[in-house]
Amino acid sequence: MTTSHPDPTLDTLLHNHPTLKKDLQRGLVMGGVALRDIAQAVGTPCWIIDAGTLRQRAQDMQTAFEAYSLPIDYHFAVKSQDHRACLSLLAQQGWGADVVSGGELQRALAANIPAERIVFSGIGKTDDELKLAITHDIAQINVESREELYRLNALASTMKKRARISLRVNPDVDAQTHDKITTGRAEDKFGIAYNEIHALYRHAQREMSGIHLVGLAVHLGSQISTEAPFRQGYTKIAELIRSLRHEGLTVEEIDCGGGLGITYRDEIAPPPSMLAHVINDIFGDMDVHLRIEPGRWLAAPAGVLLTQVIDTKEGVRKFAIVDAGMNDLVRPAMYDSWHGILPVGPTSPSTPIERVDVVGPVCESSDTFARQRALPSLKRHDILAFLDAGAYGSVMSSTYNSRPFAAQVMIHEGKWEIIRQRQSLEELMAHERLPQWLSQTES
Ligand code: LLP
Repeated sequence: MTTSHPDPTLDTLLHNHPTLKKDLQRGLVMGGVALRDIAQAVGTPCWIIDAGTLRQRAQDMQTAFEAYSLPIDYHFAVKSQDHRACLSLLAQQGWGADVVSGGELQRALAANIPAERIVFSGIGKTDDELKLAITHDIAQINVESREELYRLNALASTMKKRARISLRVNPDVDAQTHDKITTGRAEDKFGIAYNEIHALYRHAQREMSGIHLVGLAVHLGSQISTEAPFRQGYTKIAELIRSLRHEGLTVEEIDCGGGLGITYRDEIAPPPSMLAHVINDIFGDMDVHLRIEPGRWLAAPAGVLLTQVIDTKEGVRKFAIVDAGMNDLVRPAMYDSWHGILPVGPTSPSTPIERVDVVGPVCESSDTFARQRALPSLKRHDILAFLDAGAYGSVMSSTYNSRPFAAQVMIHEGKWEIIRQRQSLEELMAHERLPQWLSQTES
């Protein structure tokens, strides 16, 4: 939001989002459906996911890797978009899941993703979560610390099981992305320090009876838009594989993580073929089975958030106050991230373009989606689409300011269906209880 170079024009934005089309009569169309029709029927704010785009992007990612005939499994990062409809759709295409909590693990199972296609990463797994993973015999648990390794070994031994695990390496590589979404530097909380891996690996593989150690995992960060961090990180992992094998230890699996970036504004996002090329270059002849865990690249461009202008306000600046807030889409407030905004209704080319601050209704100055954005002059009831909202959008929502969770809709082959009802206020308050002393005074 703070960059000084010019924003892409609305036409460039449309061009960069082939999922969206502009129709002179129907306005903005996604997957064959006029978004205005959905907004009118379901209300706003409303999340939209286009099944066709999600499926196509999953396929594009697979095609990029198939070019090298690599032995690889695909795990969708559930944290980026956790609706079971999305997970089931991806499961139909052979995708598994990368989960980071017991909740996500249960969700993936409920969406018919087989346990042997689930990997469990995450910095703080509770005993109950680890037991759940062991009970279901998931593909692997990515262990994040020496302490977790010992705890897992003890738990699995008590359960008379051997947990399949990989050690998550912190390779100390800067992913050159936003500070809040980088994970692979030594000072980040994730993974086991590079220099500690070898000794721990030896110990775990040779001496831990509750552990079946199959390999290494790495995830450098998210929204990575250059090749260098991937190459640096994976090269360090390859060096580790060589030294472990030199000692006679077995390394069968490498989990390469996620992180591939997309073009929100004008980032030059490398395609999956770049990732496939780097992975093949480094691991192609190492006789390892591979895994990747992308989230954003698949889901972000498949989704938009529809919102409506509640009021406009003119002063030193023009504000368009919309009915979606930072409680719905938190990324701009949290990471200063830039999301494309397009008018949803048909706009006549003669509508003047104005600079406007698009802000939400939440009582926080950071509830600002865009500053001085060039948009066709906005008025009350106009509908807007925030682009690239399919990943890290609905999943990060809250009910701050007692604002219920928005509805979700999925588009499929020119039709749409509600896949999550808008939360009602009754539902929002349903689990609240008044303490006895207060409820007694009330009655
Ligand atoms: N694997 C692991 C272990 C991860 O921690 C993540 C993301 C992924 C895979 C998927 O990364 P992706 O392909 O989506 O970049 N909320 C932030 C992004 C946080 C990413 C956390 N980890 C945002 O809105 O930008």
